[in-house]
Amino acid sequence: MNNVSNSRLISPPLSELTKKSGKPLKLAVLASGQGSNFEAIAQSIDSGQLNAQVAIVIYNNPEAQVSERAQNWQVPSLLINHRDFSRREDFDQAIVESLQRAEIDWVIMAGWMRIVTTVLLNAFTDRIINIHPSLLPSFPGIRAVEQALAAGVKITGCTVHLATLAVDSGPILIQAAVPVFPEDTPATLHARIQIQEHLILPQAIAFCSENLL
Ligand code: GRF
Repeated sequence: MNNVSNSRLISPPLSELTKKSGKPLKLAVLASGQGSNFEAIAQSIDSGQLNAQVAIVIYNNPEAQVSERAQNWQVPSLLINHRDFSRREDFDQAIVESLQRAEIDWVIMAGWMRIVTTVLLNAFTDRIINIHPSLLPSFPGIRAVEQALAAGVKITGCTVHLATLAVDSGPILIQAAVPVFPEDTPATLHARIQIQEHLILPQAIAFCSENLL
């Protein structure tokens, strides 16, 4: 099974949301690691496929390679180290203040390995997107790729959804399916999933920019 391009766009309830104008979305990317999803967003903007601007990248881990990628794209990046805060809420408050200073419209959690609190969620109600490397609701939480392999599923994938207090559980915006091969390791399977992530994350942001602001 080689056709892994079937992804479905599923709209969340629009009732509480209003249509937006054609103004580019001002995005913040929150990332803890490599930042390949940040790069996919940056490329989509650069190629004109996505009407947005990444105004800031916030990262929580001094080693995160996303900061180098942000520098390469000349996007301002800011380290807010969660280890400097004793409470999750205080960490989130520091993030919210930076996001508000940058006048951010939407927050993209692209490999953000922190549990978010109501402090962040309430400051950007229905404006926070998360990407997760499984077909939710299967395999939420950490090590989703390992969970899929351990379960023996033959198809897994990735999900872009609105963030809510419950981890990896908000309304689903878009999903892509990815086959699992018998010889897969977590690394090979994750690499195949990431190819799809890089397609559906910019698509989901574009969908939000056209429909949900
Ligand atoms: C992605 O697989 C994402 O789904 C998960 O963390 C990974 C981040 O990858 N939440 P990258 O840092 O964007 O390369």
